[in-house]
Amino acid sequence: MSLTMRADGLTGFVTLDNPPVNAIGKAMRDGLMEAVKWAEAENFDRVIVTGAGRAFAAGADAKEFDGAALEPFLPDVCDAIERSFVPWIAAINGVALGGGAEIALACRMRIAGPKAQIGLPEVTLGVIPGAGGTQRAMRLCGLGKALDMIAFGRPLRAADALKAGLIHAIEDDPVDAADMVNTEELGCVVPTWELPPPAHDAAAFAAVRDALAKRAPGQVAPLRAVDVIEQGLSLEFAEAMALERATFLELKQGNQSRALRHMFFAERAAKPPKDLPHAPELTEIAVVGGGTMGAGIAYACVSLGLPVTLLESDTDGVERATHNVGKLIEAGIARGRLSKDGAQGLRDRLTATSDYTKAANAPLAIEAAFEDMEVKKAIFAQLDATLPPDAVLATNTSYLDVDEIAASTRDPSRVLGLHFFAPAHIMRLLEIVKGAQTSDRALSTGYALGKLLKKVPVVAGVCDGFIGNRIYARYREASDTVFMDGSTPWDIDEAMVNFGYAMGPYEVQDLSGLDIGHAARRRQDATRDPNRRYIPIADRMYELGKLGKKVGAGWYRYPGGGGKVEDPIVADLALEEAHFAGIERTEYEEHEITERLLLAMINEAADVLAEGIAQSAADIDLVTVFGYGFPRWRGGLMHYADTLGVPHIVERITALQAEDPVAWKLSPVLSDCADRGLSLAEWSPA
Ligand code: 3HC
Repeated sequence: MSLTMRADGLTGFVTLDNPPVNAIGKAMRDGLMEAVKWAEAENFDRVIVTGAGRAFAAGADAKEFDGAALEPFLPDVCDAIERSFVPWIAAINGVALGGGAEIALACRMRIAGPKAQIGLPEVTLGVIPGAGGTQRAMRLCGLGKALDMIAFGRPLRAADALKAGLIHAIEDDPVDAADMVNTEELGCVVPTWELPPPAHDAAAFAAVRDALAKRAPGQVAPLRAVDVIEQGLSLEFAEAMALERATFLELKQGNQSRALRHMFFAERAAKPPKDLPHAPELTEIAVVGGGTMGAGIAYACVSLGLPVTLLESDTDGVERATHNVGKLIEAGIARGRLSKDGAQGLRDRLTATSDYTKAANAPLAIEAAFEDMEVKKAIFAQLDATLPPDAVLATNTSYLDVDEIAASTRDPSRVLGLHFFAPAHIMRLLEIVKGAQTSDRALSTGYALGKLLKKVPVVAGVCDGFIGNRIYARYREASDTVFMDGSTPWDIDEAMVNFGYAMGPYEVQDLSGLDIGHAARRRQDATRDPNRRYIPIADRMYELGKLGKKVGAGWYRYPGGGGKVEDPIVADLALEEAHFAGIERTEYEEHEITERLLLAMINEAADVLAEGIAQSAADIDLVTVFGYGFPRWRGGLMHYADTLGVPHIVERITALQAEDPVAWKLSPVLSDCADRGLSLAEWSPA
């Protein structure tokens, strides 16, 4: 039944009990319907409903969303609770989210524990509240608050919920407090559905739609939630409930909700395999290199309460490293994330030094120095000589060979890659790069650090660029090809922004600096397939000193350090290079641009899967969403590919082979999926 029932005198106690977070599935809905009848048959003077464990209820069980809705439906359960002659009181012990909040809103009273949260985050799963949330919330807390909670999926803490009028009280023991409520007082509380809806407020609706256009472009559910709230204002309660339910059911079947559910569960499945040994306790961390990345990693670690020894090669380096972490601390204070005392704690935990013996007891070192094999080898030799013999040694390299770095130490089994993404204290992806000899203990240490830092850990094999940068390199290559053959950086950027990226590939390069890509290309010169087309425009940009925003000009110009403007000189470079190469340029429609860039990535990602560099399609989804800005609501690159369908992808790539058989060489995984009738998510080696 997923709940327990107990009587004590005239009070019925119902405890939602479906560990770990009391998700509401069919069994719990059955149980609640039975509880309503039981309470009426017993003629209780109240029912107190609470949750076992840490949650009241985390909402409808999203695992049930793939199938048809099963009776009894949650809105009917909420109605039965609300219309019962026995008044129900929600004792909200922990989070009450989605359907959990909807049960609480249907109760006659709500008393919350001090740490409780109440919210309707359905839009984060691509749906809208489907059991009365849109209608009851606005009757209780007013239009503005309801719009904010529902359209942005933002839960309220107990204190804010009380202020908003969503709950009646905050008590340390909400069950006990619910038992003490005066029966007469309880009898006088009007059921939520009987309250009048708030008045229409055109300005509030315009403001929320405006904000959504900026903050959630392309996403359907938030706007549909706003529509349902608006229409509900002039409908009878039952009619509004029917509209809400129909919208919920429609969205639940849609691509966006499927994609967001996939991401929700993939993120939670990113855990260490069960058979990994325990990691050593991470009592302190050594970080080598205090540049942007090293400082970000050090800042993230001291923020967690870990002592960090930040190692640099000389006094200047130490000074720069201290300054870089200091800037992050100052930014934390300025944003209100850090108090002055908290900031001092962070500074106290940081030791910046050039003396490696200061890290002699560190169980883990993360090297984030200059991307140069000889520099890295020298650092690893020092770490090898100074840190404990079983310390785990990680490199944050983005593309260098982890096995070669490992081979320069006495025990390569303790070496692995921990690839952070800038800014390291914010970006959630952590690629854990498993070298040929990396031990399970080292791997488990990487996972342990990822868990402490609340990262999304994804294991990658060794190759140039691992999972993310390798796929991204194809994205860049495809965008340069489209640019050379007929488009412009701004049209390409616009196409990808319209697809759902926050920025297109050229604006991203302007921010990171065109010198980075230039260095990567020079490194790849020796191994590049001579039959592969090489687009020289980025090299021309480098030669012209157009290195990006930091110098005021890159693919765009940034006059006066301000916003970006298109630069005709950049467009001319493509005309010139196409002329030199004897290419007749064609104009691309937006959908052609998007298709080429995405197909190039999908094809490479399929190779990444084929070579075992990524362990699953879902891992590639996590990498592309959490590290590279692929829109979450499209479910990650491989999930998106599966919505297009592998046969369609194979057909389109095959058609493009006529233009360039090398660039569009079909991945064997795609043909294998097509032959075996599998999706990419289902693929594993035959
Ligand atoms: N359905 C199914 N499983 C759920 C779930 C849900 N709504 N919410 C959480 N879980 C599962 C997770 O998948 C995870 O499973 P695992 O242990 O097998 O990996 C487990 O519960 C614990 O979840 P977390 O790891 O996320 O635990 P946290 O303590 O970090 O967070 C939480 C708890 C804040 C409740 C978070 O899980 C959460 O935000 N859940 C989703 C809340 C939500 O979006 N609710 C709306 C659902 S849609 C709905 O209610 C429709 C209704 O209007 C009709």
